[in-house]
Order: sequence, then C-alpha cells, then structure tokens
Amino acid sequence: MTPSDVKATLSFSDGSPSMELPIYKGSVGPDVIDIRKLYGQTGKFTYDPGFLSTASCNSTITYIDGDKGELLYRGFPIEQLATNCDFLETCYLLLNGELPNVSQKDEFVARVSNHTMVNEQMQFFLRGFRRDAHPMAVMTGLVGALSAFYHDSTDINNPEHRQIAAIRLIAKMPTLVAMAYKYSIGQPFIYPKNDLSYTENFMRMMFATPCADYKVNDVLVRAMDRIFILHADHEQNASTSTVRLCGSSGTNPFAAIAAGVACLWGPAHGGANEAALNMLEDIQRNGGVEKIGEFISQVKDKNSNVKLMGFGHRVYKNYDPRAKLMRETCHEVLTELGLQNDPMFKLAMALEKIALEDDYFVSRKLYPNVDFYSGIVQRAIGIPVQLFTAIFALARTVGWIAQLNEMIGDPEYKIGRPRQLFVGSPKRDVKPIGQR
Ligand code: SDX
Repeated sequence: MTPSDVKATLSFSDGSPSMELPIYKGSVGPDVIDIRKLYGQTGKFTYDPGFLSTASCNSTITYIDGDKGELLYRGFPIEQLATNCDFLETCYLLLNGELPNVSQKDEFVARVSNHTMVNEQMQFFLRGFRRDAHPMAVMTGLVGALSAFYHDSTDINNPEHRQIAAIRLIAKMPTLVAMAYKYSIGQPFIYPKNDLSYTENFMRMMFATPCADYKVNDVLVRAMDRIFILHADHEQNASTSTVRLCGSSGTNPFAAIAAGVACLWGPAHGGANEAALNMLEDIQRNGGVEKIGEFISQVKDKNSNVKLMGFGHRVYKNYDPRAKLMRETCHEVLTELGLQNDPMFKLAMALEKIALEDDYFVSRKLYPNVDFYSGIVQRAIGIPVQLFTAIFALARTVGWIAQLNEMIGDPEYKIGRPRQLFVGSPKRDVKPIGQR
C-alpha cells in the first residue's frame, strides 16, 4: 500500500475537533481512506451495511474493474487464462502468484492427483442424508467433516499445514461433489483414477459406472475445465469475505471453506446459476420467447419480487467478462452435442437482448453475470440443476484458500469484529412477571 500525498480531512459542523485521515493507493483501482483510528479519535463508527464503500483488506490476488468489465487473476486477464491455461495452472497461479513452468506444473499436478481420494469413512456421512437432499447441504456437511480427518494440517499459522490443506481441498472437492451426485441418483461411488487429468477425473467420477467406463469427450472436458477457471476467484465477494472472517478466528481451513460453501449457496450469490436455469425453464414452460415481455414486466414491478436471475452485479456495471466466455463455451458445447437449436439457449439469448434494450436494466447497469449462461452449458454437459452451485464451490475453493492464506500471511490481520449502530431499547429494569 502506497501512502497518497492527498489526505482526507473529516470535520464536524458542531465544531468537534476535525481529523485527518491517511489515503492509500493500490497498484490499480480506487484509493482507500484509512479509518482505523476513527473510533479511537472521534468515538464514531462508519456505517456501511453491505460494504458498498468498504475495503476489508489489501490483496494481490484478483482485480475487478466493474466499469470496464475487466477481471484479472494475479494480473492476467481472465480471457487469456481461459484460452491459454487449464484449471490446475490457474490454481497454481492463484496460490503462488505466478503461472507454473513445465516442471512446476508437473509437480503440482502430481501432488494434487495424490490427494484425490477421501477417507473411506467419508462415505458414511452421506448415508445420513436423504437421497433427495440438496447437494449444497451435503457439501456443507462433507467439507466441514474433512477437518475431522486431517488433524495434521489444521494449524492455520503453520505454512506447511496451510499448503497441504490447500492441496487436499483442491484435490478432494471433485471427489466429494461426484459422491454427492452419485448418492442422489443411487449409483455407486466411482474412485478417482490418477492417470486422468483433474477435470477428466471429475467427469469420470460423475458419469462412469462400474458396468461401463466413461468415454472422455475432450470438448466437454475443456468446457468443464473452463467453467472451473471462470469461477476460481472473484475478489472480496460474499463467500470469500465469509471465509476470511471465519478464518480470522484461527479456525482450521476445512471449517473456513465449509463456511464459504454455506454462503455461496444463497440465490443472490452462487445459487443464482440454479435459480437462473429454473427461471428459464419457467419461462419456457409458460410460452417461451413470446412470454419474455410479460416476464420482464413482472421483473420491473417491484411488488412482484421477481428478479432476472443471472443479471446484475455489485461490482460489474458492464458486461461480466465471464458471462461472455460462458456464452462462447455454451455455444461450443451445444454445437458439439448437436444441440445448437437448444430452446433454452435461444431463450436466454432472446432474454438478454430484450433486457439490454430495456431502460430498466440499462439505467441500472444490469448486465448478464457469470451465472446467466453457466446453467445452460452445465445442463447440456449432463450436470443436474441442483448440482450447479456445488460445481461453483468446487471451482471457488482455490480462490477461498488463496484469499485465506493471504490474510493469515498478512502481519496486519486481526480477528474480524465489526461494530453496529444500536437502535434498540436503552437500559431498563426487569419487572416481576405479575407486573408485565
Ligand atoms: C455472483 O460478488 C461477486 O463477485 C459474486 C460473484 C462471484 O464470482 O463471487 O460474481 C458471483 O454471485 C454473481 C451474482 C449472482 N446473483 C444473481 O444473478 C441474482 C440476481 N442479481 C441480484 O440479486 C443483484 O444484482 C446482486 C445481488 C447480484 C447485486 O445486488 P446489489 O449490488 O446489492 O444491487 P441492488 O440489489 O441494490 O440493485 C440495484 C437496483 C435495484 O433496483 P432499484 O432499487 O434501483 O429500483 O437494480 C435492481 C434492484 O432491484 N436489480 C435487479 C436485479 N439486480 C439488481 N432487478 C431485477 N433483476 C436483477 N437481477
């Protein structure tokens, strides 16, 4: 952080002493006003529910320019990573700050491959769930349960522990997601095969059965791998902030990542991809493209509480670059599968076109986000709708870990403990029950 020559001065109209606040510049993006001494000097808190104007940390991992619609992982544009790299290279980049060379990549891939199995006891947790349990309920339980198996890597302040916990979580998420899926359809679990690539392994654990092995389709594997890259990290979003706050208590990384899984489940966040596909299916069921106008009117009617899921973003006030890449991937997969006339894809593109010409969305700078097309491509690949957010969690695990490790490695970090504006009852006495 570089101190700016410019200072901020806070003055009060009641003549209370004014205060000078330092300003820091980042390498790119908005400056920050350092308010850490504000309460000590003025007895006042800042007030920013939803953190619209609050930087919770300094970070070197991911940068988003919401106005330009730009997303950089460690400085590399998402478009270049999604085209020139695979997911494990992106994991290495997010964790270490640089893309791996050939030998570094081979070593990293080998390490991850050697940790893809989960303890045999893990399967018995699944038996406690109904077969129709939502996969995110299962994943929240399974990821938290991992901490029970790795007492040798839960000291978050030990760099070796942090590193092996990162490898274990990245390696085991595909196995756990595939187990949650197999359990829901009553099929046996498929063990990882380490001569396959990370994403080939995941697709095989998802779709192979003991009766017939899974034929890898390179186009689908590449599409899945790109979906992982697009979801890998995204600055201080709700689930990443949850992981940071949870981890700031010193809890183990498995528990902190389980908290991230739970937060991501929400429809305003990672659950939006499932909600977006359900929305498209509803419109399709109620008349399809002809009914888009009616649906848009509902969205614009505040009393309807209907949102255009997969649209809008706290940071992007332009097209989410991931949505563009997801739409391309969607087209590739549908063409590969001979589904280029998929009605859902046509409906999504028609809906996007109409929304982007409607002043309600244009004036609010509401554009498609990563979740708008991701459901269509995942459904085409054969992923059930309820599993979309679990796939998002699989991919985001590396981002959560990288952000958690960055926080723990920051000498300035403390346990997170926000304050409040109290608007409740001042002190009062308890009356005996007969007098209440
Ligand atoms: C993700 O933070 C991240 O980086 C998240 C994420 C990541 O990678 O981690 O990018 C992943 O979560 C993407 C977002 C997925 N969510 C959705 O698609 C759900 C639908 N979108 C909205 O719920 C909403 O856009 C949010 C939650 C994404 C952002 O909400 P904000 O920033 O709090 O904005 P807001 O709700 O205050 O909206 C501003 C205005 C409001 O109208 P007015 O009060 O001005 O009249 O826009 C309206 C909102 O009602 N609005 C929408 C809308 N999104 C916002 N109206 C209709 N449909 C929508 N989708």
